[in-house]
Amino acid sequence: MKDRTDGTFTTRAVHAGRRDFVERGVHAPPIDLSTTYPTPDLDLAARSFDALASGDAPEDGAFIYQRLFNPTTDRFEQALAELEGAEDAAAFGSGMAAFTAVLLAARSRGNHVVAVRPIYGTADHLLTSGLLGLDVTWTTQDEVATALRPDTALVVIETPGNPTLALVDVAHVVAQAGGVPVLVDATFATPVLLRPLAHGASLVMHSASKFIGGHGDVLAGVVAGSHAMVRDIKHVRAATGGLLHPLGAYLLQRGLPTLPLRVERAQATAELLAQRLAEDPRIRDILYPGLPGQDPRGLIGRQMAGPGSVMSFELASDDLDVMQRFIAALRLVTPAVSLGSTDTLIQPPAVLTHRVVDPAARASTGISGGLLRLSVGLEDFADLWADLDRALDVVPVTARRHTPEMTPAATR
Ligand SMILES: Cc1ncc(COP(=O)(O)O)c(C=O)c1O
Repeated sequence: MKDRTDGTFTTRAVHAGRRDFVERGVHAPPIDLSTTYPTPDLDLAARSFDALASGDAPEDGAFIYQRLFNPTTDRFEQALAELEGAEDAAAFGSGMAAFTAVLLAARSRGNHVVAVRPIYGTADHLLTSGLLGLDVTWTTQDEVATALRPDTALVVIETPGNPTLALVDVAHVVAQAGGVPVLVDATFATPVLLRPLAHGASLVMHSASKFIGGHGDVLAGVVAGSHAMVRDIKHVRAATGGLLHPLGAYLLQRGLPTLPLRVERAQATAELLAQRLAEDPRIRDILYPGLPGQDPRGLIGRQMAGPGSVMSFELASDDLDVMQRFIAALRLVTPAVSLGSTDTLIQPPAVLTHRVVDPAARASTGISGGLLRLSVGLEDFADLWADLDRALDVVPVTARRHTPEMTPAATR
């Protein structure tokens, strides 16, 4: 096995999880679909079961049962851990399953979570609903320290935040957390643009259903961090289920070599589209950290390598019927939730992804009823602009632009 840290990120994305291929005589990751594994040596099997059930690695190749361990899923986990600069990673059947396991594992430290809005709607709902019996304090990135309690087990942030693209300063939050682990959902950034552990975070998670999968055909989640923290998360996973299916893991691994190319290409197109939309009188306001004045903390360059390829905007009309007609007029852009796919997707968060969020919380974090989230894909800029430009003709050009109340300073 070669040095795990060799090469640039782009090179490591190609080779992560593949360095034993020559030795094994293969050129693609082997797929192991076994749900159970023979256990002829009962002593070994018992020891390995003990290890796996508490979140440790198997002993001497005794995998026992797929919920406990799968070599194809493990291969993806090791690759992702390498790309995040983490000691280990745990992959799940969805991003929400990963988040749930992180929260359940945190309960051994306390019952209180501090979280900074906005975050993905269902993640917000999971915390707010009390489904897991956790107490949550919502705060801003500048007031994390005052929200802490003796029983605070975890600080949860998402950057860029879904769907307003608000950037959170990871090191600033970590400095306030006073040793309480900080989880960063970096789904929108991917490890190509942001590696939160390098900024002091304890855990990074992704809905791998998005950019990491990249083709809209795998539902998955992954969380990376230290051996000890990932061990606790794997302990929860072994007990509750939720291991990522090996076929999904194979597809995620297949996509890793092209992750930097996909992220950079979509971002280049998004930067052009954001400039066009920002200048267009049919758009009232646009949220995209790559636009002038939209990164007040100077995080792009310092924390994040680029603004990414997701943006949100409001049409210059408060009439939701106009929004519906705009969406219906699009021919290339697909009206659908999710993001980070090869094709460009658009959806109104207040109506769909964030409808499970308390309306007052939505309003105070800039998620207006007319906000549209656009995830830019790999199509050509000219074709995307032609589609948006034509569909925007349904918008009457009367309203003012750049309403300051849309992006409260506290969320930026
Ligand atoms: C930022 C973010 N985190 C977590 C999730 C949840 O992931 P999944 O849909 O894979 O469960 C999503 C889904 O959209 C997301 O956008």
